[in-house]
Amino acid sequence: MSTLAGKHIVLGLSGGIAAYKSAELCRALVKAGVTVQVVMTEAAEHFMTAVTMQALSGRPVYTSQWDAREGNNMAHINLSREADAIVVAPASADFLSKLLHGGADELLSLMCLARPIDKVPLIVAPAMNREMWQNPATQRNVAQLKADGIHVLDVGQGDQACGETGDGRMLEAEEILEDLQAFFSPQRLAGQKVLVTAGPTYEAIDPVRGITNLSSGKMGFAVARAARMAGADVTLVAGPVSLATPRGVKRVDVRSARDMLQAVLAQVPSRGVFVATAAVADWRPANAADQKIKKDGSGQAPELGFVENPDILATVAQSPSAQNGDLLCVGFAAESHDLLAHATAKRLRKGVPLLVGNIGPATFGQDDNALLLVDAQGARELPHASKQVLATQLIEDIARRLAGTP
Ligand code: CTP
Repeated sequence: MSTLAGKHIVLGLSGGIAAYKSAELCRALVKAGVTVQVVMTEAAEHFMTAVTMQALSGRPVYTSQWDAREGNNMAHINLSREADAIVVAPASADFLSKLLHGGADELLSLMCLARPIDKVPLIVAPAMNREMWQNPATQRNVAQLKADGIHVLDVGQGDQACGETGDGRMLEAEEILEDLQAFFSPQRLAGQKVLVTAGPTYEAIDPVRGITNLSSGKMGFAVARAARMAGADVTLVAGPVSLATPRGVKRVDVRSARDMLQAVLAQVPSRGVFVATAAVADWRPANAADQKIKKDGSGQAPELGFVENPDILATVAQSPSAQNGDLLCVGFAAESHDLLAHATAKRLRKGVPLLVGNIGPATFGQDDNALLLVDAQGARELPHASKQVLATQLIEDIARRLAGTP
């Protein structure tokens, strides 16, 4: 499933304390099916040994332009020729400056300079002290490196090895891995805005109780991640769930259906895609109590009246941009039986071009699912697979619809 499987990556380490994260990164890349060739600068060897990197990558590490192991003695040429990308992590302030100026006084910078620029992308993960990162010289270098076509990853924020706090930490290994997966994914939704709702809603009865449902939010989070991997600008409106925000996705947390409607109306793009995966509570208590409802000793349960919640999907589907085709609305249907019949009827009732059916009780909280895509032409099954695989297939289907090539 990983877009990285079968790739060959040259992993360069320049000198920085973040080199310890590169060991994790190397391991994660190998686990994702990547062959990793490590190249280290002399400075990097002060922070991490070549022995460690060789053990993790399963290949001898190159540290010198004078390494005689290559038949033609040209490691700086040979190493990049079969590579799908060069990833420099950590990329120190000094190394960025060297790249900018085309410096080539040691193997790693020499190899970067000598790479076939159209075939071998160069991706760098900066790592430095916050003052070094903020320094106009570094910021200027980063801007120019980007203009030169080098992919500069974000930096992390937080406590630094020097004891200071701020921007400049190298991203964590799993964050770099996620960015690399996105980098190698087909950018089918590049330039598109995608809004996704996910999870359950929670409808308060009083300050300590409420009604909700068993939705875990996993399918919606997987859809948001897949859309981001495909290059979209993604916003995720999430009910109460305990899931990590997919990298690169903007998240708005809400509690009730009415909160979710408000957040959706504030975020919905006038052109793009709206995917409603949330299991929105159909009803809410008519009069939520301000204070905890106490037992009165009579043995009588309190009477709870309910009112219907707004239908978020139907509301958006009736907006002018959805009606004139600028906004593609995709609904989900969690059913317990007769999936095709219910999904077909629900698609018409909600007024959406595409409705995705699934069996709710079988999938809530699970990591896998099976989907039924229902549109005006009929139905197509996406057979049982992980939610992430299904989300990627759904995003591919949506991209084809946007391109007019279903
Ligand atoms: N939905 C919504 N707002 C609601 C209810 C549902 O946006 N108040 C959206 C869901 O996110 C989903 C679709 O509508 O995309 C269908 O949700 P579902 O709960 O399956 O349908 P219901 O409208 O509740 O219909 P029914 O009660 O007949 O199952």
